[in-house]
Amino acid sequence: MYSTAPLRVNELSAEERGVYETLDPARMPDHVAIIMDGNGRWAGMRSLRRFLGHQQGAKSVQLVTETASRIGLPWLTLYAFSLENNLRRPRAEVNFLMRLLRSYLENNVQRMMDNNVRIRYIGRTHELPTEVQERMQWAAEETRRNTGTTLTLALNYGGRSEMVDAFRALAAEMARTGRKMEDATEEDVHRHLYTAHMPDPDLLVRTSGEMRVSNYLLWQIAYTEIFVTERYWPDFRGVHLLEAIAAYQRRERRYGGLSEAEAEPIPEDAQVTA
Ligand code: FPP
Repeated sequence: MYSTAPLRVNELSAEERGVYETLDPARMPDHVAIIMDGNGRWAGMRSLRRFLGHQQGAKSVQLVTETASRIGLPWLTLYAFSLENNLRRPRAEVNFLMRLLRSYLENNVQRMMDNNVRIRYIGRTHELPTEVQERMQWAAEETRRNTGTTLTLALNYGGRSEMVDAFRALAAEMARTGRKMEDATEEDVHRHLYTAHMPDPDLLVRTSGEMRVSNYLLWQIAYTEIFVTERYWPDFRGVHLLEAIAAYQRRERRYGGLSEAEAEPIPEDAQVTA
């Protein structure tokens, strides 16, 4: 475990506590990543405008983060705004999302402090509007010393562009140090990812039923367990995070290997037909 903060499970709701008590404390994930999807559909089903779905989605961000902090989850990484969202959504919606992010940071830093949450960001954040970047830096600075959950918002993020940025940084480092690109290792690439300071996600949750990874943490999810729920993000709460963790704990992670029970001797003369 990466977090040294005390558990605050006494602050869970009765419903959350019910699920939490079924979990195996020895097999809690260190890092949960979430693709928050379905804000628009949530609003559409209620004949509401899309932006109200995003607004409700921002509430889910805070509530899920607080549950994560109560159970001592060290890393929570949320896909808040992709490069594709930035390029392909109507300007008015992008502007609204930017204003929502600013307001979210302004209004929730105190709650992050109360919950010992540290906020950070990944993505090409230098391309975001200056006033948004200023708020982001302020929130990161204010919460810097917190020791509980690190909430990472992926903003103006794309998995492929993260790799391009990593390769460029690695090439520059090699030019400086005289190493050759042919000698590059996985570890070299890893050191230059935006996520170099954190473990890879153990669990990736996607809301609203879509079976896609949508350019999210492509390098990092190589061995991540994926959990998809039909629930739209604005309806996703701490209890659903706990249910996703329960489903994760029912999986057997093999990292390309076999369990003891499956490993069987193969005779040298076993016939090969292909
Ligand atoms: C997908 O809904 C969601 C996003 C565009 C990203 C998530 C954004 C939020 C939760 C808003 C607030 C976030 C913060 C950090 C304050 P969609 O519009 O793609 O939904 P749809 O697929 O149903 O149209």
